[in-house]
Amino acid sequence: MKIVSVVGARPQFVKLAPIHKAAKAAGVDHVIVHTGQHYDPMLSDVFFEDLGIGAPDVHLGVGSGSHGVQTGAMLSALDAVFDEHRPDWVLVYGDTNSTVAAALSAVKMHIPVAHLEAGLRSFNRRMPEEHNRVMTDHAADLLLAPTQVAVDHLAHEGLADRTVLVGDVMTDVLLEVRAEVSSQPSPLLEELGLTPGGFYLATIHRAENTDDPQRLAEVASALAGLDKPVVLLAHPRVVAKAAAHGVALDEGSLMSHGPLAYADLIAAALASAGIVTDSGGLQKEAFLLGIPCTTVRQETEWVETVDLGWNVLANTAQEIAAGVTRARPADTDETPYGDGHAAERVVEVLLSRRA
Ligand code: UD1
Repeated sequence: MKIVSVVGARPQFVKLAPIHKAAKAAGVDHVIVHTGQHYDPMLSDVFFEDLGIGAPDVHLGVGSGSHGVQTGAMLSALDAVFDEHRPDWVLVYGDTNSTVAAALSAVKMHIPVAHLEAGLRSFNRRMPEEHNRVMTDHAADLLLAPTQVAVDHLAHEGLADRTVLVGDVMTDVLLEVRAEVSSQPSPLLEELGLTPGGFYLATIHRAENTDDPQRLAEVASALAGLDKPVVLLAHPRVVAKAAAHGVALDEGSLMSHGPLAYADLIAAALASAGIVTDSGGLQKEAFLLGIPCTTVRQETEWVETVDLGWNVLANTAQEIAAGVTRARPADTDETPYGDGHAAERVVEVLLSRRA
């Protein structure tokens, strides 16, 4: 059986790693296509190298651009790739422009499409990711859902007969890496002279927090005013927007730092007093690491983290400050994100339904 995986952005490389491992173990011919949406080495190459994926088989080199330009360039390049490989499945990941482009190109060529991380919803129609996920779910032939909540959303949209609950593949990676890093010192702490529990770790990159100058200034000043040092692992988007809008990312408690490799990120998260983020993946990683999370958004797709008390939504400076200083949540035995074997289940389902 041949599967073509299409990835392009940082979180997709993390999701790809356990799928690639499980596909190889099952003897699947697994072709990896990188759209080139993310191209900086610290957003791309380092994940392929460190997570044992190797190099992509095909690199489209699409790069940055407006949604239309970027998605259109991917669509036209992917047609030729799918035509050459004619796989049994095209596997698409998450909610980026690379996801929707690959799903659209493949279904129009009558190639079966499976969507990994199907059924997540923010119900915020101003998020580009929300459109990407809804369109991909409705186009795809097989919906691989990470949680029961995602299964319920898909059923509500009339998609129950295409849905399978597999668990969350990012959890597969996290559990492995946590075991590796928990006994080692965090390189970030050594570099910045921070003490365990003496700082907050932050990431901010969503369009809704970065693109409007006032909003970015509000978020930066909220972080600068917190009661402990805040290390902002700055995505190139936030660096570019801060420079364009004249917003300082290094003042008060706030200090910016480049993005980290995956294991270094997990080690730093584990050593932090709390996480402040608008990333989807990091909210879940915080939960799985037992680190309180404050999410700088008005809604989350990972509602289990909030329901179980490990995550709070915070929009204003006051809410962010209250979020990071709140009492530590009660420990929980709940495992809403699966058992760390989701990727094996994905490959089993794809094999059992091969066209
Ligand atoms: C994309 C996804 C988002 C995901 C995020 C993970 C979409 C619509 N958004 O957002 O869902 O959470 O990836 O990180 O697909 N840039 C660089 N170097 C790079 C990549 C980007 O400098 O390697 C800069 C460019 O200025 C670019 C901007 O970041 O224009 C935005 O990049 P883009 O890929 O459009 O979206 P992300 O914000 O990364």
